[in-house]
Amino acid sequence: MPTPRFWAALAVVTACSDAFTSSPDPGDVLDGPIDGLTPDELAAFVEGDRQFGRPFAPADGLGPIFNNVSCAACHSADGRGRPENVLFRFNGLGGPQLQDRAIPGAVPEILPAGAAVSGRLPPPVFGVGLIEAIPEATILALADSLDADGDGISGRPNWVTPPPWVPSDEPGAEPGPRLGRFSRKGQVSTLLQQVTEAYHQDIGVTSDFLPVENTNPQTSRAAEAADRVPDPEIPAATIRSVLAYIRTLAPPAPGADTPERQRGRVVFHSVGCASCHVPVLMTGPSSIPALANRPVYLYSDLLLHDMGSGLADDRPDGSASGVEWKTPPLWGLRVMRDFLNGDAFLLHDGRARSIEEAILLHGGEAQGARDRFAALTPADRTAVLDFIGSR
Ligand code: HEC
Ligand code: HEC
Repeated sequence: MPTPRFWAALAVVTACSDAFTSSPDPGDVLDGPIDGLTPDELAAFVEGDRQFGRPFAPADGLGPIFNNVSCAACHSADGRGRPENVLFRFNGLGGPQLQDRAIPGAVPEILPAGAAVSGRLPPPVFGVGLIEAIPEATILALADSLDADGDGISGRPNWVTPPPWVPSDEPGAEPGPRLGRFSRKGQVSTLLQQVTEAYHQDIGVTSDFLPVENTNPQTSRAAEAADRVPDPEIPAATIRSVLAYIRTLAPPAPGADTPERQRGRVVFHSVGCASCHVPVLMTGPSSIPALANRPVYLYSDLLLHDMGSGLADDRPDGSASGVEWKTPPLWGLRVMRDFLNGDAFLLHDGRARSIEEAILLHGGEAQGARDRFAALTPADRTAVLDFIGSR
């Protein structure tokens, strides 16, 4: 039986485009295209948007086990998710991801006792095409794994091997270990993998890339009896359509630069936030000209940092340890609450309810910056918060 949560999620899918009473400015939405797309790229964007919002039912291939019915149901309005959309990663039978829902006839997974569990709030999906277009060498130039410069901050790349079914002409899937730059621990190097596994793991939908259904190993009940839709349930073209969409999704435009925000920017740098939240990185070449050779104001180094025991999940992912997290971009924060009914959920599991709380929970390599922030005058603190909150 679908749970009330299931139907609530379905309602979100159909309601998100009605969140505004009047039409918002182009820079205020989380689901607008980047500037400069060709008419063909714009048409692909519109079709991919439709696929991203498409809710699956059992008759369309949903399940047998799954987490939610569409991409948009978890990535609210293409932005960050809510605690009810948190995914659980764990080690043990049924891992690495808990599918806690099932279609009729199938059995949802349960967490084995004692498993190391990592809750992951859905990150925004805007700007991922720009992130993808930043050359590995640009990110690696920021890495300082052994902290050779002695500043207490050692950004580390998560080297991952893309699965063999990712075509090697996809950015991030070239032969050899690749720099992981997607998901909370940077454990994924290609967007095609991220999208294909989202269908497969999160929605229970097979594709040309992953044609064998994900089933519950904790039960002997045959999954085929529940999901009778022939595999693959979607063609490679659907994956590529969603890929074209998220690749060309623009990050929201930052707010106007007031004198207070300019001061906030200076303090942000002086207390050391910018060591990890690097304000701007340049993209390299791209098959989409609008993404190529341009600055990306993401406020991230896309590297892993030890954030201390308070934020640790004690569950390694790729070469990321149980205390490491990838620096998340600080963008879209200006409009975050507009899309979450006035709420805010920050950090990897959504535990922080405001930007200030997120900063004060920083530890490990960020302890120094956190303490310098906490020691600021109230006026300087407000300026930093106003600056970040305007990104
Ligand atoms: C059940 C909720 C859920 C659903 C459904 C879902 N996602 Fe996600 N998504 C997440 C979570 C959680 C993460 C972070 C995972 C992690 O860190 O391990 C994520 C990460 C991502 C990322 C990486 C973003 C970044 O910057 O690192 C992309 C891109 C993405 N999802 C796209 C999609 C697409 C496309 C779909 C639909 C095919 C989809 N997601 C469906 C929860 C979901
Ligand atoms: C050592 C690197 C590092 C430094 C220095 C640092 N951060 Fe972070 N920041 C991170 C990482 C990594 C996370 C994600 C932690 C998590 O998800 O548990 C994060 C998360 C955040 C978030 C939440 C973003 C979100 O989307 O959830 C905000 C806001 C933030 N940092 C602001 C700041 C500010 C302001 C400073 C300076 C006072 C600062 N950070 C210093 C690495 C750093």
